[in-house]
Amino acid sequence: MSDSGDYKLWGGRFAEPTHELMQRINASINFDRRLYAQDIRASQAHAAMLGRQGVLSLEDVVLIIQGLDAVKEEIEAGEMAWRTSLEDIHTHVEARLQELIGQPAGRLHTARSRNDQVATDLRLWVMAACRDLDQGLLEFQRALVSLAEAHALAIMPGYTHLQRAQPVLFSHHLLAYVEMAQRDRDRLADCYRRTAVLPLGAAALAGTTYPLDPATVALDLGFTGGTCLNSLDAVSDRDFAAELLFALTLTQVHLSRLAEELILWSTSEFGFVRLADAFSTGSSIMPQKKNPDAAELIRGKTGRVLGDLVALLTVLKGLPLAYNKDLQEDKEPVFDAVDTVLDCLHVLAPMLASLEVREQAMAQAVRAGFLNATELADYLAAKGVPFRQAHEIAGRAVLLAERSGRVLENLGIEEYKGLSSVIEEDVYQVLEPEHAVNRRLSPGGTAGDNVRAALKEARKRLWPPPA
Ligand code: ARG
Repeated sequence: MSDSGDYKLWGGRFAEPTHELMQRINASINFDRRLYAQDIRASQAHAAMLGRQGVLSLEDVVLIIQGLDAVKEEIEAGEMAWRTSLEDIHTHVEARLQELIGQPAGRLHTARSRNDQVATDLRLWVMAACRDLDQGLLEFQRALVSLAEAHALAIMPGYTHLQRAQPVLFSHHLLAYVEMAQRDRDRLADCYRRTAVLPLGAAALAGTTYPLDPATVALDLGFTGGTCLNSLDAVSDRDFAAELLFALTLTQVHLSRLAEELILWSTSEFGFVRLADAFSTGSSIMPQKKNPDAAELIRGKTGRVLGDLVALLTVLKGLPLAYNKDLQEDKEPVFDAVDTVLDCLHVLAPMLASLEVREQAMAQAVRAGFLNATELADYLAAKGVPFRQAHEIAGRAVLLAERSGRVLENLGIEEYKGLSSVIEEDVYQVLEPEHAVNRRLSPGGTAGDNVRAALKEARKRLWPPPA
């Protein structure tokens, strides 16, 4: 790009040059250049509509659309000279277009303001991000389901208060995260629906006197929700971006909980899994260390995604209608949160695929900690003992076993008879972890039959046959 001096969109009424520091704080080009494709696409749709409406001549429209294609190619070839004096992406694109096609470039901005332009660009960018994020979440879900299928019958301790509680299938535990990710995808789809509404036509704030047809621009650009109904709202709210950031914060919180479990499970204390070397690091001083850094970073990045949400909400709070320059601060949190969550999703999928699951260690952990005490109480209740009393008797069995360093399976039948006369030899079968798991057939329970069906259903849903 030749240096043709300052191209300003608003120079007319100014007698003095902009202060260098003002230029610096005012410029958004360092981050909003990421909107170039959306900016150019929206400008082309705008110009085409102005042509259809007879506001621009068809010759000008063709020049503008072709010129914008050329600008896009230059940007993608890395040939655009970015300059803080040119403020933002909108100014850069227009200035370069002016250099390429001359006069007609000045007509592109007819019936438009950077206010509705930037809102349009950001909505388009968020729509594309929603699609990428949905794909990332889908791949994360697939990795979870594949891992669950590979260890479908492994039994692990289920926890409450991080204390061993009842045995559950490892696959059931993983499928819990598939559900969370499904709701995350639903939230994104919902956010997409409200984002896909076109602000273009609102102009600076009040609408415009030109005979526009924004509905066709909406169609052209894929704004499935049509056009904004109020021009002031169209240029001044960023609730679609705040929604995205909330959806992403919750997604990242879900990822963080899984990351925390992977960290716990990979300790020597648990020993349930081993993370692949590819997703771990060593210590510079302790040669034996293998640290779960990838999982820790996923956990740690939750703070910044939440920070992005808080930053945007804080920008919006207290802004009078309509557009204010504060709104320029909307982009960096959005870009940062989307980049961060996509990175984490992309890391998690191969991390799960390469995870070594130690079924033996899980099975061993299930044997210690009296996870079958509930089974004993249920067994007594089934034989007619009121549950409260059954709970009490099972508790005494635990105490008896614990004091003698044993587990419930090791108590003799005479010891059991001493606790309750209704207990018979069949109690030992009830105390087996498989028995405890497979009896939990309530909807959504961990029984093998349930989980097999859930895995089958997930496979069908997440790997639809090509249409
Ligand atoms: N760079 C600006 C932003 O991101 C574009 C809109 C500027 N509008 C204005 N009236 N100064 O918000």
